[in-house]
Amino acid sequence: MTILSHSVAETHRLAAKLAAQAKPGEVIALFGDLGNGKTTFVQGFCAACGVTSPITSPTFTLMHIYRGRQWPIYHFDFYRLQSVAEAQALGCEEYFDGDGVALVEWPERALALLPPQHWQVRLRIPDFSGAPNEREIKIHRASNEETKAPPLAEVAA
Ligand SMILES: Nc1ncnc2c1ncn2[C@@H]1O[C@H](COP(=O)(O)OP(=O)(O)OP(=O)(O)O)[C@@H](O)[C@H]1O
Ligand SMILES: [Mg+2]
Repeated sequence: MTILSHSVAETHRLAAKLAAQAKPGEVIALFGDLGNGKTTFVQGFCAACGVTSPITSPTFTLMHIYRGRQWPIYHFDFYRLQSVAEAQALGCEEYFDGDGVALVEWPERALALLPPQHWQVRLRIPDFSGAPNEREIKIHRASNEETKAPPLAEVAA
């Protein structure tokens, strides 16, 4: 599914739709450059799940946990991740297969850790100078096959 969002509110509404379908143990990988709206998407997702605490990017801590109405939300930001091993040390694989839903900004940094099946959300600004509030947002279910993540053994070698 691809939509063109014209505002933060519209991006929040789309994230809320995904939240309505998401189930514990699922992982949502958010791709897109700086400022494309990954955290904004997470904010809409969390609001739809009943999170009342402020949602900010976990840039330095790498992960925030929010209490949703039905399950916890694990919000990762791998922008500053140095290695896949660092993400493993954080225990992210347990969170990815856990009792809540994990949302991951900058998943490119640790693609090999994503479970075989996950959601991909790809955000793009089609025309920054002409329409700075527009975001093209593609959502689909994906497998690691498509993302070309090498198997972990290869990453470690
Ligand atoms: N339609 C839109 N959808 C989402 N964000 C929008 C939209 N229009 C404008 N914005 C603005 O774009 C910015 C997106 O910032 P956000 O922090 O969500 O990006 P990010 O992808 O998480 O960046 P980073 O990689 O730095 O974490 C916000 O300032 C938001 O207000
Ligand atoms: Mg962000």
